[in-house]
This record gives sequence, C-alpha cells and structure tokens, in this order.
Amino acid sequence: MTILTGIKPTGQLHLGNYISTICPILKHKDKDAIILIADQHALISNPKNIKENTEDLIKIFLSFGFANIVKQSDIPEISELNWILSCFTEVGHLNRSHAFKSLKESNIENGFNENKGVSAGLFNYPTLMTADNAIFDTDFVSIGLDQVSHIEMSKMIINKFNHVFKTDILKIPEPMVSNYNVLGFDGRKMSKSYNNTIPLFCTEKKLKKHIFSMKTNSKNVGEPKFFYESPVCELFKCIASDLQINNLKIFMEDGLGWGDVKQIVFRKLNGEIERQREVYQDVRVDDMNVVPLWSIQDKCKEKIDIIKDMIY
Ligand code: TRP
Repeated sequence: MTILTGIKPTGQLHLGNYISTICPILKHKDKDAIILIADQHALISNPKNIKENTEDLIKIFLSFGFANIVKQSDIPEISELNWILSCFTEVGHLNRSHAFKSLKESNIENGFNENKGVSAGLFNYPTLMTADNAIFDTDFVSIGLDQVSHIEMSKMIINKFNHVFKTDILKIPEPMVSNYNVLGFDGRKMSKSYNNTIPLFCTEKKLKKHIFSMKTNSKNVGEPKFFYESPVCELFKCIASDLQINNLKIFMEDGLGWGDVKQIVFRKLNGEIERQREVYQDVRVDDMNVVPLWSIQDKCKEKIDIIKDMIY
C-alpha cells in the first residue's frame, strides 16, 4: 500500500502543516510513505527561494525519520505523464479547481482583472497533482481539507484515461483527510496568508511565547472554562490523546487558570517535537539524500513505459 503526501517548498513549515500532513502519516506509523517535495507546484506561485525551501523541508522530514523523500523535479516521468493526462482533463473541471478559483476570487475582491497573475501552470495544477499520484501508484494521499477537490478531479481524470484505454493501469487515489482545524493565536485558521503561523522548529522560547499569546477570555482562576473558549484548546485537541483531552476538560471546568492551561499545551507540544528539533539542527546538507531513491525512480520509469507502450 502506498501512502503519499505532497508539500510545496514555499516557505517555513508551520505547526498547521505539521498537524495536517505529517501527523496523520506518523499516526499510521508509515515511515515508508512517499514525501513528495512539490517544487514544480511551488514554481507556479512562489518561484523564488525554491532551492532553500526544499533543503529545509528535506531536513524537516529527515528529522522525523522519513526515508522516501522525493523531489518532484527529479522525476521527469511526472512531467511526461502530466502532458498525457492533460489530454484527458476537462477544462470545465479545471475551471472549478480550488487553487485557480481562489486566486480569481481574490482578484475580484481586490478590484483587479479576474485573470491577474493566473498562469497556465496554475490552471493545470490539478493535472500535475494527478500525475504525482498516478506515477507512484498511490493508494492513499494525505492532504488537508482544501485539497480534497483536487483529488476528486484526479479521480475523474484517471477514470477517463482508464476508460478510454480499457485498462486499470492508473490507480484511483483515495484521500486521507486530516480533520484537524489548526488555529492561530487569533483564532483564525493557521495560514501564511493570515500571518498567524507558528514555525514548526522555532526555538523552545519562541514556541512558548506563541502559545502564551493565544487568545483567551478574561475568566479568572476558579471560574469554569470550556475548550471552545480558546484556540489554545483546539491546538491541544490536535496533539493529545482522548484521555488527556478529557482530563484537561475536567480541570478547566474545575477552574484551572488560562496560564496553567497554556503551560500544559506548551509542554505537550514541545514534548512531541523537541527530539526532532534537535535532530533537525544537526542534519547537514551533505547528509541529505536529495537524489530520489533509485528503486522509486526505476518504478516510475517502468510505469511510464507501460503507459506509453499502450498509447503510442
Ligand atoms: N497541492 C498540494 C498543496 O498545495 C501539494 C501537492 C502537490 C500534493 N502534489 C501533491 C499533495 C500530491 C498530495 C499529493 O498542499
């Protein structure tokens, strides 16, 4: 069974990314999952600093013990399959894709022409993502909620291809969706566009500062408190066990102060990542296995050859 996740090297990996994409794979204890650094997807919107951001992402995934870290641009078969699949992709579907639609909507909101900055690459985004999944024979794709529509499109594209060639050569990927809603200190979804992210591997001191800056209400020690009253509790829900969550709820209803709640959340989160943070500091660029594993690369070659033999 192949699990894959793709992540764009567009900047610092934050806590929201960690909880929505790394944690679900770690929960499956699947260190064999393929981590695809989607540098070709990054080229669409953040063409600068791809190299540095890629290096940083590789270091982060190495520190979590993943071995199959692959750079998208190192697998030319993805580009080849991308073209083939684009011939089975309906423009009508691409028009409805999340990445494309949200840029258009924000252009309209800001009073610009709706096509401002919309590249052909952005329009074709879902096809490239489909090629990513198909080339690796992916069974499950670990994604955040915003990517579900892209995977639904992948299913349509792959179904169409398989139908035309009366084959099942391309696997239909199933989404593995993280249903955690990671909130920033202001209570909005944690996102680079809201400027409310917590970098995954900031210093312990900074992490503490971030957690202690999270919004609460003015209830004092001794007053009953509830989880929905602060994003800091939502964060705890993403990282703690059911038992730990229930215990904290009981203490809060008994009047635990916000300062203590934050201390508990900080300790839990810091405990989850402190070992990896140390490993991350020590991983050197020379240690990195940036070249994709040969076995993965060979499989991709085999796959594209079968597909091409079938078509041409
Ligand atoms: N589109 C994904 C995102 O923006 C990243 C991505 C690229 C991806 N290729 C993928 C995710 C393949 C899953 C599978 O987050």
